[in-house]
Amino acid sequence: MSILVTGGAGFIGANFVLDWLAQHEEPVINLDKLTYAGNLENLASLQGDARHIFVHGDIGDSVLVSGLLTKHRPRAVINFAAESHVDRSIHGPREFIQTNIVGTFSLLESVRAHWEGLTGDTKACFRFLHVSTDEVYGSLRADAPAFSETNRYEPNSPYSASKAAGDHLVRAYHHTYDFPVLTTNCSNNYGPYHFPEKLIPLCILNALAGKPLPIYGDGRQIRDWLYVKDHCSAIRQVLEAGRVGETYNIGGRNELTNLEVVHTLCQLLDELAPPATRSLHFTSYRSLITFVKDRPGHDRRYAINASKLEGELGWKPQETFETGLTKTVLWYLENQSWITNVTSGAYRNWISRQYGT
Ligand code: NAD
Ligand code: TYD
Repeated sequence: MSILVTGGAGFIGANFVLDWLAQHEEPVINLDKLTYAGNLENLASLQGDARHIFVHGDIGDSVLVSGLLTKHRPRAVINFAAESHVDRSIHGPREFIQTNIVGTFSLLESVRAHWEGLTGDTKACFRFLHVSTDEVYGSLRADAPAFSETNRYEPNSPYSASKAAGDHLVRAYHHTYDFPVLTTNCSNNYGPYHFPEKLIPLCILNALAGKPLPIYGDGRQIRDWLYVKDHCSAIRQVLEAGRVGETYNIGGRNELTNLEVVHTLCQLLDELAPPATRSLHFTSYRSLITFVKDRPGHDRRYAINASKLEGELGWKPQETFETGLTKTVLWYLENQSWITNVTSGAYRNWISRQYGT
């Protein structure tokens, strides 16, 4: 048996593949287009491991996907592949529509055709798990209860709208064709291999280089943070025991303002990499905090109610925000060559376009 993972060279997908192979003998076929966010270096520790089969390609390439399904006959497909950065979706939504909607549709068609041809237990046990985000639910008022699976979809950015459309297609394939889907909607992740365009890794790298820590608007927007490996363990549990056709929200009950996140990060960096030891002439990384122009249409608050997942499947996160963030900072401090490689040419173009530096 095997599983087919899409987008497994990205941040969450790579953590998922690494964790899976640390715990299972079951091989992973990893299909990834290697966009700017896909990085084979994330999977370097699997070099020579016959259980990891990497395939360079697009989820929208139905000939390629059908061929992989026929050849490897995986028992499940887990779809991480996506364009994932809200700010990029504001600058250029086209790729988001292409991968997150058209690509998801094409993948659903290819996998459904394969599943229709299966028989017996192989067909009954087959699963298509679609990895999605809490951003599809839109923005919460300060006093509103956290998102549950029955919240209305109210996406506000091209990114969240494209993810919402993908989720609707997945839902419709179950309703219409009985296709055995599972959907997960997770809150903001952080951890190793996070591409430094997102808040936490961007601030770690900028701080260590003595550069400004850009806070959009007033910095009081709230996100609900989850350590990436806790997200991966939730996906494994939903895959094994989730009820077909159901959606499961995943979150760590760590609602924090962006300012709180960055202050905690600065405090940790002050302890683990004191500025003076890096020839930086200030006493705390906090002095780098800089307020910049807000993101257009910036969602004010996200928060996840994960009680369905906790109650039905007994999932619990292992990390608190403090333990997870400490692990994350240590990982970035110990992986300088990964950082050097991902912050080359194309990355610099993005940073200067977004922050004007
Ligand atoms: P990422 O941008 O780091 O990685 C995406 C991966 O998908 C990359 O390896 C990229 O090369 C690949 N990819 C993109 N388009 C592709 C295509 N057409 N065909 C094949 N591969 C393609 O994203 P991430 O943060 O790892 O997110 C993974 C999934 O989890 C996404 O679906 C995202 O919406 C969802 N999610 C992310 C977060 C978060 O905080 N990062 C939270 C909840 C849900
Ligand atoms: P991000 O990591 O891009 O994730 P998302 O937009 O999917 O939640 O952003 C997290 C929060 O941090 C979000 O409210 C936007 C804010 N943010 C900043 O204040 N400055 C930055 O430079 C970035 C990238 C994000």
